[in-house]
Amino acid sequence: MAIIDQKITDDYAIYNGDCIEVMQSLPKDKIHLSVYSPPFGGLYHYSSDDRDLSNCYDYKQFFEHYEYVVKELFRVTMPGRVTAVHCTDIPSGNCGKDYLTDFPGDVIRLHDKLGFKFIARHTIWKEPLWVRNRTMTHNLSHKTIVDDGVYGGVASADYLLVFRKKGENPVPVAHPTGLSHYAGECDIPSDLLKYQNYEGKQTENRYSHWIWRRYASSIWDDINMGRVLPFIDCKDPDDEKHVHPLQLDVIDRIITLRSNIGENVLTPFMGVGSEVYSAMALGRKGIGAELKKSYFRQSVKNMEACKPGIYASIGKEQISLIDEIESLTK
Ligand SMILES: C[S@@+](CC[C@H](N)C(=O)[O-])C[C@H]1O[C@@H](n2cnc3c(N)ncnc32)[C@H](O)[C@@H]1O
Repeated sequence: MAIIDQKITDDYAIYNGDCIEVMQSLPKDKIHLSVYSPPFGGLYHYSSDDRDLSNCYDYKQFFEHYEYVVKELFRVTMPGRVTAVHCTDIPSGNCGKDYLTDFPGDVIRLHDKLGFKFIARHTIWKEPLWVRNRTMTHNLSHKTIVDDGVYGGVASADYLLVFRKKGENPVPVAHPTGLSHYAGECDIPSDLLKYQNYEGKQTENRYSHWIWRRYASSIWDDINMGRVLPFIDCKDPDDEKHVHPLQLDVIDRIITLRSNIGENVLTPFMGVGSEVYSAMALGRKGIGAELKKSYFRQSVKNMEACKPGIYASIGKEQISLIDEIESLTK
């Protein structure tokens, strides 16, 4: 197998190589959860490597290639367990008169064809001016609607699509004292703090209930957009753009809800390591594959900065997630 580099510890295993080859080396049915952002069918180009899914000739060829990824994910996933895909609608370009492709819909149809059932969609809300400043999307400006509202764009949401592999889940993902770790930017009402890690009747656990109402929501409008791993340093000189790491709040939520402590969490498209980092911080084992060397090297640094299990056994205090990011970027 063409693995260029790897780092394996008790808490994680990360590989610099093609995700299909890495997954082919993993045993059947042993992954408890996978979560990732695929390379969005040509929206960004990460490298000139032929195995890079962002380098496909066209949208159709992207899905032919991506099908191999989902087939391997199906093989390695434990029956009845979950895979989660972070994606968005894809714009045709940035000329100001663009249209959108329903990428999430095509991702759903592919998973359905390969034996996964579509069970949930979380919509991650994004503020229009924040998106405009970050992406410089031409049709997303106040000026567009002043000139001609027909061409006005929207700040497209991100989606986290959740699928379950067919079969009975042999190991329930139970939360006997409810949810104790909130990843999001709202303040938890102080009168609920006394219920954190509550061991009594769970119908009384108002702390967990408060978190559950946010996590079970179809719209996630309380994601901290700035809580991402460091990524700027890994930009190669000839890169047009840098990778956009997935917000750790999004990953923490799916890992907390859909896997147990100590279980295996996989990302086939690791980037700078966000999914592996979250898995480790939540006391799971993270496994990741990344094709691009500079991103892999940044992942190694990010993993070295992670304290395994830091969010798995939280005491009475909610650890400040902002402090965590500040310490990572020092
Ligand atoms: C959307 S980014 C993932 C970002 C990641 N979620 C993070 O937070 O850093 C997609 C990644 O997939 C990588 N990639 C593309 N094709 C790949 C392949 N065949 N095997 C492994 N990684 C690949 C790209 O280099 C890129 O880093």
